[in-house]
Amino acid sequence: MAKVFAIANQKGGVGKTTTCINLAASLVATKRRVLLIDLDPQGNATMGSGVDKHALEHSIYDVLIGECNLVEAMQFSEHGGYQLLPANRDLTAAEVALLEMKMKESRLRYALAPIRENYDYILIDCPPALSMLTINALVAADGVIIPMQCEYYALEGLSDLVNSIQRIAQLLNPSLKIEGLLRTMYDPRISLTNDVSAQLKEHFPEQLYQTVIPRNVRLAEAPSFGMPALVYDKQSRGAIAYLALAGELVRRQRAGAHTATA
Ligand SMILES: Nc1ncnc2c1ncn2[C@@H]1O[C@H](COP(=O)(O)OP(=O)(O)OP(=O)(O)O)[C@@H](O)[C@H]1O
Ligand SMILES: [Mg+2]
Repeated sequence: MAKVFAIANQKGGVGKTTTCINLAASLVATKRRVLLIDLDPQGNATMGSGVDKHALEHSIYDVLIGECNLVEAMQFSEHGGYQLLPANRDLTAAEVALLEMKMKESRLRYALAPIRENYDYILIDCPPALSMLTINALVAADGVIIPMQCEYYALEGLSDLVNSIQRIAQLLNPSLKIEGLLRTMYDPRISLTNDVSAQLKEHFPEQLYQTVIPRNVRLAEAPSFGMPALVYDKQSRGAIAYLALAGELVRRQRAGAHTATA
């Protein structure tokens, strides 16, 4: 049965999509079956997976509003080696369409139920907002992976996100946990990075991944070729860091050591 992880942070540009694509490809490299769901109207995870968001016959939008089933909308990312549920601007209309629907927060969860056993991991790339789309991701997920930059305002944003996760856990998805906190675009030469890092360690000792993702230009270049860094330049520090993250994530699962709740 797949573990479903929402990759979420309402702050923009923190590395959610980069993490989705590269973690998905790294999990595939360790022989896991992976589905990546693009739940962002920007369609960045779709393009970064080598699928043209302008030429979709079906997208996650059709799945959410019940126009097609999930398997019909799925595409294979050739370079990534994972299945993709793509998205494009159509998805902006989902916010309004969902409001009129029954069980509007649980549409994604129900859509995923019949295919969960076909995968080891399902990763959901969330938009930079605590919107109805993100709520659908949090209701569908077992855990949230939070990518963040170690900046001054990051901790403030983090506490808003943690409160939202707790609220969703109370109201809609009691098993929701914070699976992990991931430091992205990490530069230890900056003293603020080390201060923020120390605070994260203190407040989230169980959840903070030891693996950090360095700032690496290969990670920024790869999506324009529709590739994960692992294929674009497998020796790059970025590719190696995401492989290490996949290893840490799988080990945590195996050890079942992660018991802390949100
Ligand atoms: N570790 C990294 N090193 C260098 N560049 C990075 C790294 N991670 C992400 N980037 C670049 O930073 C930008 C933002 O990253 P990304 O799109 O993954 O963030 P996001 O959180 O998904 O953004 P949004 O909130 O808009 O969806 C992109 O141009 C990406 O290529
Ligand atoms: Mg993104």
